[in-house]
Amino acid sequence: MRLLMLSLIICLFGCSAKEKMIDTNNAGQKLYYEKCNGCHRLYDKTEYEPKKWREIMNVMKKKSHLTDDDERMIIKYLAE
Ligand code: HEC
Repeated sequence: MRLLMLSLIICLFGCSAKEKMIDTNNAGQKLYYEKCNGCHRLYDKTEYEPKKWREIMNVMKKKSHLTDDDERMIIKYLAE
């Protein structure tokens, strides 16, 4: 029983840790998560080609009032 509890705890920890695996060292990704989920879901970076991301960012930049630096870092994450 104790072993069962233990493995349950380990699983819970492991599973939730996986979901929250946002690399905070990656500034562009962090900004993306912070700035871009207000109006719609966070689209996965693999859903669009880099070229398309740049076009989208032209529009979304205005919607989310990004600074040029923020924009550059988000594009770096999404389109490079
Ligand atoms: C103020 C609200 C708002 C914010 C903030 C916002 N978006 Fe959007 N976004 C929209 C709306 C509305 C649409 C759908 C209608 C449209 O295409 O204009 C959309 C659509 C999209 C799409 C789908 C476009 C397509 O052609 O399929 C992507 C991808 C996207 N946004 C990315 C982003 C990114 C990246 C950011 C952060 C830089 C962001 N959005 C921030 C409102 C927002």
